[in-house]
Amino acid sequence: MSVLLPSRRDFLVFSSICSFASICKGGAISDISKAALGGQVTNTDSVFNIVAAPDSVQLGPQGHQPTAMWCFNGSYPGPSLRVRRGDEVQVKFINLLPEPSSIHWHGIRLLNAMDGVPGLTQPPVDPGKSFVYKFVCKDAGTFWYHPHLNSSEQLGRGLIGSLIVEDDTETEVDHDLTWLLSDLRLDQKGQIHESFGSIHDQAHAGRLGNVVFINGSLSDSWSVPYGGRIRLRLINGSNARLFRLRLNGPSVNQVAIDGHPVPPRVIREVDVLAPGQRIDLIFDLHTSEELEIEDHGNPDRAYFLAKIDIAKPSIGRGQWYGRNLKPLPANDIPQFQITEIPRLREIPLVLSGGAMSRQMSPQSVWQMNGRAPTMGHGPDHFGREPLFSISLNESVVLKLINQSAWFHPMHLHGVVFHELLGSDSLGPARDTLLLAPGQQKRVVLKAEFLGDWMVHCHILEHQHSGLMGYFRVSA
Ligand code: C2O
Ligand code: CU
Repeated sequence: MSVLLPSRRDFLVFSSICSFASICKGGAISDISKAALGGQVTNTDSVFNIVAAPDSVQLGPQGHQPTAMWCFNGSYPGPSLRVRRGDEVQVKFINLLPEPSSIHWHGIRLLNAMDGVPGLTQPPVDPGKSFVYKFVCKDAGTFWYHPHLNSSEQLGRGLIGSLIVEDDTETEVDHDLTWLLSDLRLDQKGQIHESFGSIHDQAHAGRLGNVVFINGSLSDSWSVPYGGRIRLRLINGSNARLFRLRLNGPSVNQVAIDGHPVPPRVIREVDVLAPGQRIDLIFDLHTSEELEIEDHGNPDRAYFLAKIDIAKPSIGRGQWYGRNLKPLPANDIPQFQITEIPRLREIPLVLSGGAMSRQMSPQSVWQMNGRAPTMGHGPDHFGREPLFSISLNESVVLKLINQSAWFHPMHLHGVVFHELLGSDSLGPARDTLLLAPGQQKRVVLKAEFLGDWMVHCHILEHQHSGLMGYFRVSA
């Protein structure tokens, strides 16, 4: 059980952070709401202003030096945006950072011009300038947003936020929680470590942080005000960390993956939650129960992430407790017949490079299909030509081949895809799929939207150093 595992404060490497972390324990959600929930924003007409700017954030309790970060609307993470399925969302993005930026809406199926990728779908938003994003959220579910320029550094300094699209019918839960999981690499003063652009991080497992946060908070005790049915939406917004979450306590159902509903199924652990991925869980919690969550992402350094319990004294029980759990209403995404798969065009995508490979050099850490895009994030970073092209409404099989010794959560913009499992079944709809070292996976997808769409590894240091390209959907 968790008592045998270190908590997050025990694995902090720096003593000054340890001291603030050790007193940052406990507290009901209401106590920590503002910082921890990132200032939740609900807006009936779905019009938001989002300002990216340097700011300082009190990651620990008062008395400790605030951390200089880059923030959306002054908080870490940025505001949790909540909209309804079918809403037209309008976001005025104002860039007050010292460098160009953008916002990408991870997992949202939208028109190419709103996808937020500078150099590919829009010009960069320069310092002092703004850009208005307008899109309709067709799919209900758990999504998130972040810049798509110099991503390793911009996300690594704090620019992340959640985007929750509610269904038009009410979800049958008493509490709806979102946990944006992240980590930061902090120095001994609790400031962002300036080791951006490290070739070592690029060639190995990416920029792993040394402090893990839940909604920007170090609290490992989260309470809901009364017992009932809880939906917990987990988002991995870290640059590089793979979470493997063991769930101790009541039985927990997974109900959605990468935003899209799956048939409810009891799980004892979240096998893996890679950067960019989401999973939604539903469970019932009785007054005397708690759900304890441990992270075994690194089996040698497992730790206690947090528990969810009922605040004492509790004030009754929610109406959905113990009721029959129905699947969430499906999103209208492309469906595939297993019999049509063999007739589809198959497109290979080979990932190579990284430490321990012969293809790696300081000029070219990673390659996609043997091609090494330039380093950094200039206009030709994507390579001048698309990696592959698809006709509008064409379905294809993409064969992802990981020839490297490293994990890669591969993310495609503008589509959802299903993994082909064996010869006769399809995995859940996803937008980000993890490939283990040496692994190959085939996915099927249908091109529904015109334009140039990114395909990249969501370990942002891999993305920065070659695992990033694009595909073209043409009429
Ligand atoms: Cu989460 Cu290309 O992005
Ligand atoms: Cu990668």
